[in-house]
Amino acid sequence: MIFESHAHYDDEAFDGDRDALLRSFKENGIDVVINVGASLKSCVSTLELTKQYSFVYGAIGVHPSETGELNEDNFRWLKDCCASEKVVAVGEIGLDYHYDEPEPAVQKKWFERQLGLAKDVGLPVIIHSREAAKDTLDILKYADAGNLGGVIHCYSYSRETAREYLDMDFYFGIGGVITFSNAKKLKEAVEYIPLNKILLETDSPYLAPEPNRGKRNSSLNIPYIAKEIAAIKGVDYEEVLEVTHDNAERLFHINK
Ligand code: NI
Repeated sequence: MIFESHAHYDDEAFDGDRDALLRSFKENGIDVVINVGASLKSCVSTLELTKQYSFVYGAIGVHPSETGELNEDNFRWLKDCCASEKVVAVGEIGLDYHYDEPEPAVQKKWFERQLGLAKDVGLPVIIHSREAAKDTLDILKYADAGNLGGVIHCYSYSRETAREYLDMDFYFGIGGVITFSNAKKLKEAVEYIPLNKILLETDSPYLAPEPNRGKRNSSLNIPYIAKEIAAIKGVDYEEVLEVTHDNAERLFHINK
C-alpha cells in the first residue's frame, strides 16, 4: 500500500470532487494520507479532514510565506490544535527565500518558534526549504531537530546537503519533480539517499509528475514517482512502496 506523506486536500482545487477522490484512494492502493497545514485557515480544514476520513492524518503549522499572519494569540491556538488526536507532525514550517515576503527575519523567527512548539508537544516536523539551504540547516541544528525527527519535504538540494540531513537522521520527501527530465541533481541525490530514509509525497495539488506534469496533482500519481525511484535505485517497485510505508509509519508513529 502507498503512504502519501504530503498533500493539501483542503485546497480549493479539490472543491469539485474532494469526497469522491478521497474515497477512491483505498481501491487505488493508498491507505494513509497526511494532510499538511500551511496557513491558519488550512490548519482548521486539515483538522476537519482528519475527523471526516479515517485514513487522513494531519500536520499543523504555518508555511514560511504565510508567517506574516502569526502573532502570540494565534500561535497559542496552533499549539492547542496539536493536541488533536490525529495530528502527527508540526508542518509545514521552514524558510522560503524564493519570494522576499515576509522578510527573512520574520520567517526565521516563526520557524524557530514552531520548532519550539514541536519540541513542546513532542511531534516530528515537516520542513519546507526553498533557496534557503544553509539557514535551514543552521536553524535545525541549533534547535537540535535531529531529536525531534523530521522530513525535508520536496527535497531539492544536492547530494552534499543530503549528507548533512542524513547526519541529523532526517527523512527526505520525494515527489513529482523526480520524474522531470531536467532533475539531474535530484536524481543524483536520490541515488545517494538510502531507501529507508525516503518518503513518498505529492504536494497535491501542485507538482504533478510526468506524464501529468502541469495538471492538478493527486495521490493517484504516486506510482509514477515510486517507479522512478525504483529505476534510479535498481530495486522493485513493490519494495519502494513497502519500505517508504514503513519509513513514514516510523517517523509519524502511525501503525497501519
Ligand atoms: Ni506542501
